[in-house]
Amino acid sequence: MLSAQDLALDYRSGGSVAHAVDTVSLAVERGSFVGLIGPSGSGKSSLMYLLSGLKRPNRGAVSFEDRDYASLSGAGLMRLRRHRFGFVFQQHFLVNYLSAVENVMVGAVKRNHDTAAYAQELLRRVGLGDKLQKRPYQLSIGERQRVAVARALVHRPAVVFADEPTASLDQATGHEVVNLLADYRRTGGGSLLVVTHDPAMLTGADRVLQMRDGRIAA
Ligand SMILES: Nc1ncnc2c1ncn2[C@@H]1O[C@H](COP(=O)(O)OP(=O)(O)OP(=O)(O)O)[C@@H](O)[C@H]1O
Ligand SMILES: [Mg+2]
Repeated sequence: MLSAQDLALDYRSGGSVAHAVDTVSLAVERGSFVGLIGPSGSGKSSLMYLLSGLKRPNRGAVSFEDRDYASLSGAGLMRLRRHRFGFVFQQHFLVNYLSAVENVMVGAVKRNHDTAAYAQELLRRVGLGDKLQKRPYQLSIGERQRVAVARALVHRPAVVFADEPTASLDQATGHEVVNLLADYRRTGGGSLLVVTHDPAMLTGADRVLQMRDGRIAA
């Protein structure tokens, strides 16, 4: 469903070049959970940016449902991300003056009664049914991250990209967050890509890729 062929991303600064992603090919099947681990600086986030169309590669190609990103304009890529992809980052980026349920609605493509009801259902599913009207600063860090997970899922994305979604959480809460994402994959049929430093978070993964120096190790 999502596939990459010989992807490369270089960062140039001054006279030097960092090969953040160096000739990576991979395919993510529909409904699969793929984990990505590797040392700091090995290119995990950079690879996620390329796969999700947040950055364009210097070489190589990415396609989603047989559509090559190179054939899409910046606006087309943005539309693809907004409609088909969900994102969870290490930092939750919630809007502080919006309630939990309003924050989840930020991720909705259509704002209507159905999506509002689904936003509430998702918050109940992540254990926040009694905190729908709380604002982020009234929630714990783990609770905020669960709101961020609900926001990433509210438009029923085909692929969820999660970059260190558990980094600021204790291990039990981290597991909870990953399980929520894995549940969505099982019930919603979406694919899930999770970057983490912690292999324990990937016990449910179908496949774990090891990154090192911009490459995927065998
Ligand atoms: N904006 C940038 N300009 C220059 N170099 C960069 C930039 N962003 C990342 N890099 C370099 O690209 C390489 C890969 O970075 P990336 O953020 O993808 O690593 P990572 O595996 O996600 O690391 P971490 O686990 O610390 O998040 C690193 O060597 C980094 O220094
Ligand atoms: Mg990173």
